[in-house]
Amino acid sequence: MFSQVADFLDNIFPPHANPWRHLGGLAFLCLLLSCLSGIIAYTMYDTSVQGAYESGLRLQNDPMRLGPLLRGLHRYAADAAVLLVLLHLIRETVQFHFLGARWFSWLTGLGLPGLLLISGLTGLWLLWDERALYSVTATAQWLQALPLGSELLARNFLSTQALNDRFFSLIMFIHIGVPLLLLGGTWVHVQRISMARFYPPRSLIWGSLGMLVALALAFPAESLNPADTSFNAAQLSLDWFFMFIHPLAQALSDQTVWLMVSGVGLALAMLPLLTKFMRTAVSQPAQVHLAHCNGCGRCAADCPFTAVMMTQRSDASPHKFQAWVNPNLCTACGICVGACPSSTPFRRIEDIVSGIDMPDLTVAMLRNQLKHELAALTGLHQIVLFSCRQAANLSCFADHSTAVIPLHCAAMLPPSFIDYALRLGAAGVILAGCKEGACEFRLGDQWVRQRMAGLREPQLRARVPRERLRVLWPGRDHLVIQKAAADLRRSANLTALQTPHD
Ligand code: HEM
Ligand code: SF4
Ligand code: SF4
Repeated sequence: MFSQVADFLDNIFPPHANPWRHLGGLAFLCLLLSCLSGIIAYTMYDTSVQGAYESGLRLQNDPMRLGPLLRGLHRYAADAAVLLVLLHLIRETVQFHFLGARWFSWLTGLGLPGLLLISGLTGLWLLWDERALYSVTATAQWLQALPLGSELLARNFLSTQALNDRFFSLIMFIHIGVPLLLLGGTWVHVQRISMARFYPPRSLIWGSLGMLVALALAFPAESLNPADTSFNAAQLSLDWFFMFIHPLAQALSDQTVWLMVSGVGLALAMLPLLTKFMRTAVSQPAQVHLAHCNGCGRCAADCPFTAVMMTQRSDASPHKFQAWVNPNLCTACGICVGACPSSTPFRRIEDIVSGIDMPDLTVAMLRNQLKHELAALTGLHQIVLFSCRQAANLSCFADHSTAVIPLHCAAMLPPSFIDYALRLGAAGVILAGCKEGACEFRLGDQWVRQRMAGLREPQLRARVPRERLRVLWPGRDHLVIQKAAADLRRSANLTALQTPHD
């Protein structure tokens, strides 16, 4: 279902700017927008019990419309952040991104929705209208359902009798401090991945900003009647993104909601433990072979999960550095193998060993497989299809004219293998991966594009005839591969027909 959503959005957005693939970055953008608009609003805000409501009204009634714009941006960006974080969480869950080396991003991410909820609720309280009063009372009741001194906390700060300027200062302190923690938490959250996409592509940034501005002006975020502790409003419009918890607690009971929140939180936090049972042979971490490593650092530069470090040489080699793989951070994507200069199939020795290799699919195995598969083909216009296992099961394409070589990731293929396959007699080569911008290993498509265009080492050599190569990002769309194969064969056929005349 999730890949169908992504595919559907691919019809509307260019694949690299599909919002479905930038949920984390979009959530961060909304957090930033909310923080920036909040800083400006703070300069116009009076944090006393008397002044709070008036401050909200002043902004709301600004004849220049800047006040509603500011309030709307602040509110709707925060609401959008909740929705985006929820979708980001669901997407990472269905992609099993709690397994293996990703446990760190997973666990640090889990703390963030709670902080977001606290930031939003305290922000809504600061308006001090009927809605805020309802939320403060409901939160106090909810806290009281907890043992361990929460009663004291609720009585001291969240009872309507204790409402005073001190309370407001505390709420303001939390409302400013927690978002800072949230931003810091997001920074920690992406520490174990390299080149984290903090920001979505520019088109999505402008699109999101435009949508939020339009929303802020079309549906101004307005306060309700001022809070009155002697009166209970019969009907309230809620901000469901943050206040959903109150009706839920009313419908189920405070204790049940505590049990649900802690149960779901605990279950999600335990998910990384499944790694033990779900690690397969394919998940064996990369291995460095010092005798073949010249310390160039390309593997460290290309690893999407900061799993490779360059350290001082530990052998007698004249090179200064060597690669070192932290097995706990390695996701076994093989991208480092595609980056290593010693991963070339043109080396003469029988059992080639790369500076860095995947134990379950070494460069030697890859070369042998390519040779054998090509030698076994009997049809005309033979094609080699190198395909990422994550994208689709492309083994159905294997026939008497097509050799299919599965890879852990499209970027695992050293570009020299394309040259090699053509020299072995293939009429054409297809390299296929996940959808553009949706690489299971984050950066694979980016590195492949740069290597093919000669913008990143190792480059595809200039002598390789580009018309005999198709680099595709079909994901699970087999039709794209079929078309490319037919196209390659057509041009090979034309070349064959033209050759005698030439
Ligand atoms: C304020 C909330 C959050 C923000 C702003 C945020 C932002 C981000 C960003 C910018 C990335 C990097 C994406 C990339 O470069 O590929 C990321 C990755 C990730 N996030 Fe979040 N995130 C948040 C909450 C969460 C939550 C609640 C979870 C799940 C528990 C989560 C799980 C992950 C995982 C597993 C990754 C790594 C993805 C990978 O390795 O491919 N995040 N997040
Ligand atoms: S296989 Fe290589 S590139 Fe991929 S995570 Fe492991 S060390 Fe990094
Ligand atoms: S890319 Fe290969 S040669 Fe370069 S540091 Fe990594 S393992 Fe060594």
